[in-house]
Amino acid sequence: MESALTARDRVGVQDFVLLENYNSEATFIENLRRRFRENLIYTYIGSVLVSVNPYKELEIYSKQQMERYRGVSFYEISPHIYAISDNTYRAMRTERRDQCILISGESGAGKTEASKKILLYFAVTCPTNDHMVTLGDRLLQSNPVLEAFGNAKTLRNDNSSRFGKYMDIQFDFKGATMGGHILNYLLEKSRVVHQNHGERNFHIFYQLLDGGDDDLLNTLNLERNPHSYRYLVKGSCARVSSISDKNNWRVVRKALDVIGFTAEEVQKLLNIIASVLHLGNTLFGEGEEGETYIITETQLSNLLGVDGSALKEALTHKKLTAKGEEMISPLNFEQAVSARDALAKAVYGRTFNWLVEKINQSLALKEEIYHSSKDASVIGLLDIYGFEVLQHNSFEQFCINYCNEKLQQLFIELTLRSEQEEYETEGIAWETVQYFDNKIICDLIEEKHKGIISILDEECLRPGETCDISFLEKLEDTVGGHPHFITHKLANGKTRRVMSREEFRLLHYAGEVNYNVNGFLDKNNDLLNRNLKEVMCQSENQILSHCFRREEVIDQKRPEMAASQFKNSLMKLMEILMSKEPSYVRCIKPNDAKQPGRFDEVLVRHQVKYLGLMENLRVRRAGFAYRRRFEAFLQRYKPLCPETWPNWNGKLADGVSALVNHLGYKPEEYKLGRSKIFIRFPKTLFATEDALEAKKPEIGKRLQASYVNMAHVELFIVIQSGWRGMKARRRAKRRREAAQLIRRFIKGFICRHEEYCDDNDYFLDHVRCSFLKHLRKNLPRSVLDKSWPTPPALLIEASEHLQMLHMRNMVIKYCRRVQPEWKKQMMQKVVASEIFKDQKGSYPHSVGRLFLDTRLEREQISLKVLQTLGSEKYGVAVIKYDRRGFKPRPRQLLLTNSFAVLVDRTKIKQRLDYAALRGISVSSLCDGMVVLHMPWEDNKQKGDAVLHCSHVIELVTKLAMMASKTNYVNINPGCIRFGVSRTKEGIIDFVRGSELKVAKGKRGHLLVVSQRLFSGHAEILRGRESLFLYEKNKKQKKNLPSS
Ligand SMILES: Nc1ncnc2c1ncn2[C@@H]1O[C@H](COP(=O)(O)OP(=O)(O)OP(=O)(O)O)[C@@H](O)[C@H]1O
Ligand SMILES: [Mg+2]
Repeated sequence: MESALTARDRVGVQDFVLLENYNSEATFIENLRRRFRENLIYTYIGSVLVSVNPYKELEIYSKQQMERYRGVSFYEISPHIYAISDNTYRAMRTERRDQCILISGESGAGKTEASKKILLYFAVTCPTNDHMVTLGDRLLQSNPVLEAFGNAKTLRNDNSSRFGKYMDIQFDFKGATMGGHILNYLLEKSRVVHQNHGERNFHIFYQLLDGGDDDLLNTLNLERNPHSYRYLVKGSCARVSSISDKNNWRVVRKALDVIGFTAEEVQKLLNIIASVLHLGNTLFGEGEEGETYIITETQLSNLLGVDGSALKEALTHKKLTAKGEEMISPLNFEQAVSARDALAKAVYGRTFNWLVEKINQSLALKEEIYHSSKDASVIGLLDIYGFEVLQHNSFEQFCINYCNEKLQQLFIELTLRSEQEEYETEGIAWETVQYFDNKIICDLIEEKHKGIISILDEECLRPGETCDISFLEKLEDTVGGHPHFITHKLANGKTRRVMSREEFRLLHYAGEVNYNVNGFLDKNNDLLNRNLKEVMCQSENQILSHCFRREEVIDQKRPEMAASQFKNSLMKLMEILMSKEPSYVRCIKPNDAKQPGRFDEVLVRHQVKYLGLMENLRVRRAGFAYRRRFEAFLQRYKPLCPETWPNWNGKLADGVSALVNHLGYKPEEYKLGRSKIFIRFPKTLFATEDALEAKKPEIGKRLQASYVNMAHVELFIVIQSGWRGMKARRRAKRRREAAQLIRRFIKGFICRHEEYCDDNDYFLDHVRCSFLKHLRKNLPRSVLDKSWPTPPALLIEASEHLQMLHMRNMVIKYCRRVQPEWKKQMMQKVVASEIFKDQKGSYPHSVGRLFLDTRLEREQISLKVLQTLGSEKYGVAVIKYDRRGFKPRPRQLLLTNSFAVLVDRTKIKQRLDYAALRGISVSSLCDGMVVLHMPWEDNKQKGDAVLHCSHVIELVTKLAMMASKTNYVNINPGCIRFGVSRTKEGIIDFVRGSELKVAKGKRGHLLVVSQRLFSGHAEILRGRESLFLYEKNKKQKKNLPSS
């Protein structure tokens, strides 16, 4: 914006807040005129865009222009409707707040064109996919359809919107359009049956007659000539050279298809349009007794899909209910004509509402998405009638101007609020703004019981003689003293002269408007005879049966009056707008002749006043004329201060301070906020700007004089700015990527239960990766540790495999670490476990003790015996019991690879071949008895050996392993039988007792009393010798893993 400041003498200021004399309307208009002359049709008042209709095509709406405005800060570039669009769109995306753009201005000022340009900007610049392309098409195509049915040629505008329109455009979280919704307000239905001179009915009638093919017109029983239809010629200008109805018909037909109307729906719609034309041509005759009858024959009932005679009856009679009884009374001629016109208006008005509903269904592909989508953000577009002051103002102007009062109220409230918020964030004290609060006028119109609308409703409902004049009298009685209300009777002499007796005047915020009360009651009543409603709700045309509900006929309650309906819909609109961040476009038309290049000052002044632009500027300028972020201000004006030139390296606020001090700003001229400088008067800014202009040649000279030095400096600056630029770009890229990543992550999370696909791949990979990383840190470290991190659902199977692999791995590693000696020990322990576990009482106590290689030192064994045996593997001291008499004899039991021997000091007493060994018996108790069963046939073996050994588990394990007879070990619970001679058997009985005892018992049995083992006993049993050997062994093998 600053760049244009220098050209301000020629092109004016881009922002009215920079007008020195901001209270002067003449200065305001002069600024508009200067800009208009240069084809600069847009100017700001702060963030409000003022637009002047150029009435010619300007080269400022191309795609390149859209790109120019995309993502660029509001003030950095010349004012434009695209700047408002882009700013709104970005605010919606970054702040996640719903936005709305309020477009207002009088008829022909360019509201609808502006709203179409905004829509197009979104359609072209927002991200899209296939669905959105369709939706974008539908959004754009809804315009020609709504314009065909809701716009008409008027004196002021060849394409005047005869209804108010609010459109919501919905955007998804990526910023792409995902739906739309339209609300329509107060269609000017009276146009269906009457048009002022020089005006036309709604476009669709003329389009259908001009563009519809012959077959279509035949089925609708229509002639191509619009002059054949009474409803189309009231304004005497059925044909207009500037409008091509034929071409527009083609556009509308295509648009109906794009939006999704079926052929059947289009046919039904056109039947209704044609039926309105036939209704207009329905004429009445008057009988001798004043009764009315229809004198024309048309296809009306066929097209409406209703019973012909019922329709005729309903058009000429009225159904009344008196004292609970229904009565039919004939209508006189005027009544019949107005019943016919009422029907035409009702049929057209309701069909228009149906059309909007239908378009809405097509825009919100699924209606429920529109209402339920929480992620969506919305931009609303309000294209609504501006203040209307005509020669004769009626009920419609009253409603329209009331609507503008409400919008002004909202505008003041929201503008003040946002100003206040900015002051608060910047930490600047808020200064009270003087403005006119138009609440007093809104109350005058809308207040319950006391407002004009309530009085009008009351007058419509009141029994007895009521008419428009009685309504005026009631107004005088009730609101006569109000400072914003005058009637002929209440006015002073001067005002009286310019007011008729049928008028009341409202002093609107924008100016005075006289309203003629004629027709107020009828228009507010908007009544349609009940019997006509009854006929219509039986229509076979689905559009009509949808529009005329049976409940409406059954329900005796009076429908809401038109003004109240309008009031309520406005209240809802205000609620919608209040919930959004507003932007404003104020449209002005430069002349009434629709001519380019003509600037009619009187007309413009009138609009500036009625749009409340001066009020708007006053509110905006109440505090400061100009505000900018520190960095922008410093960047522009730093050459003006030696401290800040060429670069300021300290805090931005300090830099700005230094700059304004150097420039000699007075304290009352400016304020420093947290991130912005606020300059109170435009002259301060202009002086600064002029100083900059003046400084430029000096800077140039200095540059020349110290060219070499400066070349270095410049080079340095170029490098520096290049470097900074690169860093900024990198930072921006990183941010962009981060935002994308976050979006992908969130989307993935939402779709995490779906199949692996593009939408969730990133999220699922992340989950997998995180689990694996976590697992790596938390793997169990020993085979005995059974803990395992809980896997996410999608990794359960993989996790099980990993757990198994890890366990195997640990086992392999463990086994590799085991040394041969320890392995032998383990193998023996495993065999011992297989033989004795849960079988013998002394087994558990043996588990913790190592099996020794031998229990006899070599010195303890006779040399002779050793020489005889060659190599012995294991030796242990035992007690041998004679098979007869059980005499105990101490012996050594030595095991070799293939046999065992019992040695008495130096003499081998018995040789026991492993091959001949029949079995090994032990008891299940804690004693050390063991019987080695040998065959009798072989004399060399000398029969069974009954032995006692303190290390019976170790001995039996080693013997069984060496003899490869682990399966030959018998564990007997009560007794062991052994062979005494070839024919005789001996028995060892086992009992439990407190002390180990082996003695001869009854019946010649050997009785063994086995100790009960407690932990203390285990220690005793272990014996000193065993303990000694164990410790010794442990020392030798201390490097081995413990069991
Ligand atoms: N930006 C523009 N560029 C060129 N012509 C424009 C522009 N804006 C408006 N016009 C011209 O002005 C005419 C009237 O504009 P538009 O229909 O938008 O007025 P309006 O404010 O919607 O009026 P109404 O209240 O009657 O609907 C358009 O048909 C077009 O010819
Ligand atoms: Mg319009």
